[in-house]
Amino acid sequence: MTELIGTDWAHAFARRTQGRGNAELTAILAGSPPGVLSMTGGFPNPRTFPADVLEEITARLLRDDPGVALQYTPCEGLPGVRAYLCERQEALQGRRPAMGELIVTSGGMECIALMCRSLLDPGDAVAVEAPTYLGALLAFAGYEADVVGVAMDDEGLSVDALGERLEAGLRPKLVYVIPEFQNPTGRTLSLARRHALVELCRRHGVLIFEDVAYRELAFDGGSLPSLWSLAPDLVLQAGTFSKVFFPGVRLGWAVGPADVVAQLAAAKQTSDQCAGGLGQRLLEEYGRAGHFERSLPAARALYASHWAAIEAALRRWLPPGCTWTTPRGGFLTWLTLPEGVDSIAMRDAATAAGVAYVPGAPFYSGSGGRNELRLSFSHLGEEELDEAVSRLAGVIRATA
Ligand SMILES: Cc1ncc(COP(=O)(O)O)c(C=O)c1O
Repeated sequence: MTELIGTDWAHAFARRTQGRGNAELTAILAGSPPGVLSMTGGFPNPRTFPADVLEEITARLLRDDPGVALQYTPCEGLPGVRAYLCERQEALQGRRPAMGELIVTSGGMECIALMCRSLLDPGDAVAVEAPTYLGALLAFAGYEADVVGVAMDDEGLSVDALGERLEAGLRPKLVYVIPEFQNPTGRTLSLARRHALVELCRRHGVLIFEDVAYRELAFDGGSLPSLWSLAPDLVLQAGTFSKVFFPGVRLGWAVGPADVVAQLAAAKQTSDQCAGGLGQRLLEEYGRAGHFERSLPAARALYASHWAAIEAALRRWLPPGCTWTTPRGGFLTWLTLPEGVDSIAMRDAATAAGVAYVPGAPFYSGSGGRNELRLSFSHLGEEELDEAVSRLAGVIRATA
């Protein structure tokens, strides 16, 4: 018998596995060691998890509907769930999609992967906000796209900067944007820019890929029109229930032009074939019983209160030369450190001081972000946030 000792399989790995940044995402999902106050993951606060309602609905589904809830579902999702999601789009975004324009996905991240699989050939250009969501950057890189970062400011993506790139000949397969409480900066795309972006992309025939992961978590409950509602023929929207229901259910949606959505459904046949039926039925029962109308205001109030706590701590503790964004919802703020302070180099000292954050550089497709970092205020309690920022401030002072 031949013994396989120390075999190195790296030569067998596909070229697309060579994407960068995986270690960062692994670290975020793994959480921080004991004693470290973590402001890393965009994790919903467990206080928002509706455990007792779920217990009651699960018991009912297992008793009354096991043949559906425990079975495979159609690739596009259960018809009743899709109908519910179409109604929800109309209630929240003012337009009811046709059934062929919406499918259920296994979370927002799967929708991004399905888009990549459906649209991207190696070398295709993808325009993104700079900085943008790490998971999306990894997915685009994994499909060997040429990712082009476009500058943003406090009003979100600079549509003028994108326009200049398009005028100069850039032909992206898609423009990926997170219009509300963006990951990682917490910024929101202004109404004027939403209209300008739609107009620009229509003129150049570029598909907009809108990620609405945090859209329903405005601190004041308000919302601007989604890009999809402004241009349903031009926009593919990815949604997730991770932030407003619970991430363990792994559920989201894709809504957009019927031919694009059909491609996504076809791509899903060779990913997981269908989102879990039990989760789909839980969501439908939870939503149709009106629980979102009760739970969302409480979640928004919780995150608004956390933002107030961390903002007070930032003002109180951070040394001069630090600035940060002011989100109007969601979980995240983006910190700029004094020039020359390197957020990657500072990380070990931060861990030793008992605080964790995500450095800025991995959120950029190119260079950038050395003196920037992302803070999530969703997860820690308010007193912990104050302590975490005070520890971070001590590390910045010691490094600057
Ligand atoms: C902007 C953005 N899009 C998508 C996702 C992925 O969501 P899901 O948990 O549904 O895969 C996240 C998760 O943090 C996110 O921040």
